[in-house]
Amino acid sequence: MKSTVIAIINQKGGVGKTTTTINLATAIAVANKNVLVLDLDPQGNATTGLGISKRRGINSSYGVLLGMIDPQETIQKTHVNGLSIIPSTIDLSAAEVELFPQKGRDCKLKQSISDLKYDYIFIDCPPGFGLININILNASNKIIIPLQCEFYAMEGLAQLFCTIQSVRNSINKDLIVSGILLTMHDRRNNLSLSIANEARTHFKNLVFNTVIPRNIRISEASSHGKPVVLYDIKSIGAISYIELAKEFLNRERK
Ligand SMILES: Nc1ncnc2c1ncn2[C@@H]1O[C@H](COP(=O)(O)OP(=O)(O)OP(=O)(O)O)[C@@H](O)[C@H]1O
Ligand SMILES: [Mg+2]
Repeated sequence: MKSTVIAIINQKGGVGKTTTTINLATAIAVANKNVLVLDLDPQGNATTGLGISKRRGINSSYGVLLGMIDPQETIQKTHVNGLSIIPSTIDLSAAEVELFPQKGRDCKLKQSISDLKYDYIFIDCPPGFGLININILNASNKIIIPLQCEFYAMEGLAQLFCTIQSVRNSINKDLIVSGILLTMHDRRNNLSLSIANEARTHFKNLVFNTVIPRNIRISEASSHGKPVVLYDIKSIGAISYIELAKEFLNRERK
């Protein structure tokens, strides 16, 4: 069995990548799948958001990306049944400089994680288009793009699709966009509604039917080191991510 590797990516910062990684991965693990979160952002927000320490020097995604350590030695169990994580630490912030002179620097991650056996590996990506993200795109089967329902949301998507196309043209021809996810949506806000409409007009079925509303319980949960699905199962944030997991798994079956 080969793992399905899914990158949660958008070069824009603060659009809900980490929140989506944590909560979608949790909701899918709760649905009885064997799931790994690979935190490849030096900020380590997915790591702390799942209640794991990001202390400098521990076995982490830094060693995995650079091919210096067996990924099995970096994997930690989370509080969620069926959900493990390869944590990130600030050590990762040096990785791009260290990768740069290396041969095959774009494909290091693909090699390192090729033997991992999970139903799904979700990768939390850093913002930007550096070597870490190029490695992630080369190592992934699919991507999910969180799109924040705010001004300038659509700007930058064209650039992201260009990057995806150039990855397809070079190393990873089978890379698929699994879907675009509208995040931090506010029904009472006209701008939010118009971004959602614009995205659906332009990207049609690629946009998930499920929309993640702005919900304070989601950000509270992260500060408690828990996915919202565990922190407050009745909140609209938790219900939305469970709905997203169902829609995602349905798309996978098709
Ligand atoms: N649906 C939501 N409702 C309310 N707050 C949210 C929601 N989604 C995310 N947030 C909050 O918005 C902030 C940014 O979200 P998040 O960290 O997931 O974005 P990101 O894309 O991973 O950011 P970065 O590019 O810095 O990694 C966080 O404080 C998070 O708790
Ligand atoms: Mg993040």
